[in-house]
Amino acid sequence: MDWGLQHRLSRIFKPDTGKTVMLAIDHGYFLGPTGGLEVPGKTIEPLLPFADSLMLTRGILRSSVPPETNIPIVLRMSGGNSILTDDLSNEEITVGIEDAIRLNASAITSSIFVGTPHEHETIMGLADLVDHGQAFGLPVLAVTAVGREMKRDAKYLSLCCRIAAEMGAHFVKTYFVEDFEKIVGSCPVPIVIAGGKKLPEKDALQMAYDAISRGASGVDMGRNIFQSDNPVGMIQAVRAVVHKGASVDDAYDIYKTVK
Ligand code: R5P
Repeated sequence: MDWGLQHRLSRIFKPDTGKTVMLAIDHGYFLGPTGGLEVPGKTIEPLLPFADSLMLTRGILRSSVPPETNIPIVLRMSGGNSILTDDLSNEEITVGIEDAIRLNASAITSSIFVGTPHEHETIMGLADLVDHGQAFGLPVLAVTAVGREMKRDAKYLSLCCRIAAEMGAHFVKTYFVEDFEKIVGSCPVPIVIAGGKKLPEKDALQMAYDAISRGASGVDMGRNIFQSDNPVGMIQAVRAVVHKGASVDDAYDIYKTVK
């Protein structure tokens, strides 16, 4: 990999641990003002000091993140539908590589929807993004979205993650499921986990702990942080798990005590 691409990746995956705590706030690209993201700038201000990178759309970056903010940006480059559609897989690349460079993104990202009506288009979109990213030294994160009909298990997610890696993604985001180590073991690039729907904080910390223990290189969490009753405590608890190997109990104490 070229120096620039490696440098950008090292801003996301911290060199001292090789892991990352990404804060995901791109949900609005199809969900609109989802709970906790009604006013994104207000939500993320207290969280940014504890996030290793921020995953979001260009619209929220421009409108809600002060340009002087020192945080690596993972830019959502795909979209084109809403939660009202009956086919969330009908997603395309919506951002040009020039705008990603103009916005000083440290990585770019799109979703693939394996096993859905638009499987082909989304995989081709990822391949196209990798080509453009490579040309400018921009690493690509592939998000393995799960179609409503798909069974979210290790067999399916292993297929998704491996396809993403085969297309040239530099890291992949998927979900923590039983036999997660099989997903990691058959994917040649780093895997981070999404948090998914809001869980009780201790359960979310257990999920992060188990994922890291079984080979994840970090998390790209959104709702389990910004929908928590104590988001600052929660992101610091997640950091302790990811970067310090803290136990779930110790991390949960951080969540409860840090305000
Ligand atoms: C979907 O909206 C995006 O891919 C999110 O970035 C992803 O689901 C991570 O956010 P959460 O932890 O809330 O699932």
